[in-house]
Amino acid sequence: MNLTLKIWRQKSAKDKGKLVEYKVTEISEHMSFLEMLDVLNEQLVNKGEEPVAFDHDCREGICGMCSLYINGEAHGPDRQITTCQLHMRMFKDGDTIYIEPFRSKAFPVIKDLVVDRMAFERIQQAGGFISVNTSGNTQDANAIPISKHNADMSMDAAACIGCGACVASCKNSSAMLFVSAKVSQFALLPQGQVEAADRVLNMVKQMDDEGFGNCTNTGACEVECPKGISLDNIARMNREYLKASI
Ligand code: SF4
Ligand code: FES
Repeated sequence: MNLTLKIWRQKSAKDKGKLVEYKVTEISEHMSFLEMLDVLNEQLVNKGEEPVAFDHDCREGICGMCSLYINGEAHGPDRQITTCQLHMRMFKDGDTIYIEPFRSKAFPVIKDLVVDRMAFERIQQAGGFISVNTSGNTQDANAIPISKHNADMSMDAAACIGCGACVASCKNSSAMLFVSAKVSQFALLPQGQVEAADRVLNMVKQMDDEGFGNCTNTGACEVECPKGISLDNIARMNREYLKASI
């Protein structure tokens, strides 16, 4: 395939940034999207030009680092996959592909397609944990009965990889899907009850302090989430928040 790429280039957070056009040739349909960008970067380096900066780590849908907005969709046109799992067979020879960073006030651009998602880390630090005794007297997790239904829902919520696609797809830049997944995975388990009230109050406060917007039930986040995190988690978080506030 021969493709035209329109890529967001921005030297630093202070730079204004703009879309720059590049041509890439002989792209195999079996390549991943990131491998296609590797080919482009190799060409740029060979010409003595600055390669395009983009985030990635595991390249197998686990770490949540890859974060591209491709043709107007977070993680591109496929469903329930991350950018690193997107394959070039989703595109046609001669296509023009727009590649932008995940945009949100709370995710400032560091360079080109790389954004700062430390706001998510700070939300996690505010309450995304449980306290357990690790002194050697730790209770065997299997000694605590948990219903299959709740265990399954907790595992589904825990599948969130913290990529930020929910924020990038939301017209309000809301982080509610992410935060609700992190709250829900503990709210559904007995181990999460001790700090439940503090957790939801502190994580929501941190979310607001970071400048994320509110949820208006549009549902774009659920559609674009690579891990299929359900909006039900937002409803659960709202109930947890109300309970904790009272
Ligand atoms: S809820 Fe989905 S889109 Fe949002 S951070 Fe988690 S995995 Fe990514
Ligand atoms: S690089 Fe790890 S999820 Fe894409």
